[in-house]
Amino acid sequence: MEKRIKKKYPRVSEMTPAQQVGMVRELFSTIPRRYDFLNRFFSLRRDVAWRRVAARKMRFFNTEQFLDVATGTADLAVAAVQRHTRIQVTGLDFVREMMAVGQQKIRHHRLSDRIRLIQGDAMNLPFPDNTFDVAGIAFGIRNIPDRQRALTEMKRVVVREGQVIVLEMHYPRHPFLRGIYDLYLNHLLPRMAHLFSRNPAAYCYLGDSIMKFPAPDQFAHLMEEAGLIRVERYSLTLGITFLYIGVKP
Ligand SMILES: C[S@@+](CC[C@H](N)C(=O)[O-])C[C@H]1O[C@@H](n2cnc3c(N)ncnc32)[C@H](O)[C@@H]1O
Repeated sequence: MEKRIKKKYPRVSEMTPAQQVGMVRELFSTIPRRYDFLNRFFSLRRDVAWRRVAARKMRFFNTEQFLDVATGTADLAVAAVQRHTRIQVTGLDFVREMMAVGQQKIRHHRLSDRIRLIQGDAMNLPFPDNTFDVAGIAFGIRNIPDRQRALTEMKRVVVREGQVIVLEMHYPRHPFLRGIYDLYLNHLLPRMAHLFSRNPAAYCYLGDSIMKFPAPDQFAHLMEEAGLIRVERYSLTLGITFLYIGVKP
């Protein structure tokens, strides 16, 4: 039986950026074994469909390389290679425990010759400029306080006309949906997490971080401020999640 972690994390608005980074590292090192299961469960498997939509929108035309930033358990990396049969993928994350689960998945799917995982920080990507056709981040940017820097780094490492792709969860705009979502995020999710996760406080942070994430307009604007052009956004599942795509000029 795994030992339960009795933690309470401060609210996102009460933390300094450095505290948030430390907390994010600690939090993701405690939940990797159940991470995939809880993602599928809490999103009713929508997370799988969302990553597939992202993979479908990727365009490979030069280096045939994809970078999955904040790869976690490598789900976006796997979705990308399954959709695009010629590409090579690099997954990067700063939490080794998450990537260990990803590595098992890659071996299980016999994809070790197409996906490599490396430990690193999204703030300082260890790659030369113009390396990848596409750089993507799924459900990771919300956990990064300096989003502008992360986007600028992703833009730096893609080729000209390459894509920067972001998949992220949002607090829906519609008042009725908001009511339901509030109930779900702030009441149901934390209670379910108590049953299934060894670190239930991590799921309180999840709700809080979604509520604090900028609205779609603001986030699309941030991508433009990072120097990306032709920024498009797609609302998925009633606006609970958005897919953003920007292009390097
Ligand atoms: C919610 S998980 C998303 C994992 C995966 N992309 C997915 O689609 O399920 C967020 C991941 O972001 C990683 N992360 C957060 N900040 C990071 C940073 N600055 N550099 C690298 N990884 C980071 C965490 O370690 C965690 O694995």
